[in-house]
Amino acid sequence: APVSAPDLDICEKATVSSKSAGEIKVACCPPKSAKIIDFKPPKFSKIRYRPAAHLVDREYLDKFTKAMELMKALPNDDPRSFMQQANVHCAYCNYAYDNGDPNHQLQVHFSWLFYPFHRLYLYFYERILGNLIGDPSFAMPFWNWDAPPGMVIPEIYVDPSSPLYDEKRNVDHQPPKMLDLDYAGEEDDLSKRDLIKSNLAVMYRQMVTNKTASLFHGSAYRAGEKPSPGMGSIENNPHTAIHRWVGDQRQPYKEDMGNFYSAGRDPLFYAHHSNVDRLWNIWKSLPGKKRRDFTDTDWLDSSFLFYDENANLVRAKVRDALNTRTLGYDYQKVNIPWLKNKP
Ligand code: C2O
Repeated sequence: APVSAPDLDICEKATVSSKSAGEIKVACCPPKSAKIIDFKPPKFSKIRYRPAAHLVDREYLDKFTKAMELMKALPNDDPRSFMQQANVHCAYCNYAYDNGDPNHQLQVHFSWLFYPFHRLYLYFYERILGNLIGDPSFAMPFWNWDAPPGMVIPEIYVDPSSPLYDEKRNVDHQPPKMLDLDYAGEEDDLSKRDLIKSNLAVMYRQMVTNKTASLFHGSAYRAGEKPSPGMGSIENNPHTAIHRWVGDQRQPYKEDMGNFYSAGRDPLFYAHHSNVDRLWNIWKSLPGKKRRDFTDTDWLDSSFLFYDENANLVRAKVRDALNTRTLGYDYQKVNIPWLKNKP
């Protein structure tokens, strides 16, 4: 059976652990709501294009900054607030819910739920931002880390006076330090040229070589099953590598980006995941043999709960997330250098 949307009444404290700092419990359950509405695709007149973060202009940046400022100013118990939105990730990823069986907790990573869960999570986040600035056409930026100009933390996120800034990041990985898409905790000693080459090879391998839905998305995960059956190619690398690369080594749980429970507290998280989301679109449009999503109804009918821009609790299914254009958005077209870089 499909994984069903969690029961907010049986949400428990989340579990956060690391080898060195041990285990702690963190409260991150969402506010409750008496009513749940089923997701309906939005009405819109024009597709919103999410821009590459390193290419945005002043006008866009002002808008985005304003939206983040307003989100951060909402009271903490407002489900649309910055903290509650970060907690969405904590609850779904650090075992606050169960998966229809008290012995098995729900985990949206390391399985076929990875792409659709994050797509919907970002969709609602973006709608909230747009609503706060009164601009329903607002689209958030993506961190274009799969192409050389995007292989550093985008400039707009590193100004300490901006609401896009987060101080809990690795101090040694500030721009112009180049990203290592294979990062596993050890610093690379490659020249810039070799690092780009290695990064593009990682991209080629994860995107092009992994042709089947299970290799790309991850393994099947159904109601009542134990978590983490196996992750897909991009989720592993570079997705997880980048989380670790950005997270602050001085923090006990590598906060913020280096741990699920805190990752959503770094505004960069949403740009990182926009790129992951963009790669799902690209994967389906690669030349050659057509790559297809699962057709298993246990995947299509798996569901999640999110608060929308009007603070209504909405139940959305994987099948609602298959096409970004149905959701009203797409991505700015930029070069895809790894496509021609068969290692
Ligand atoms: Cu839900 Cu990038 O992790």
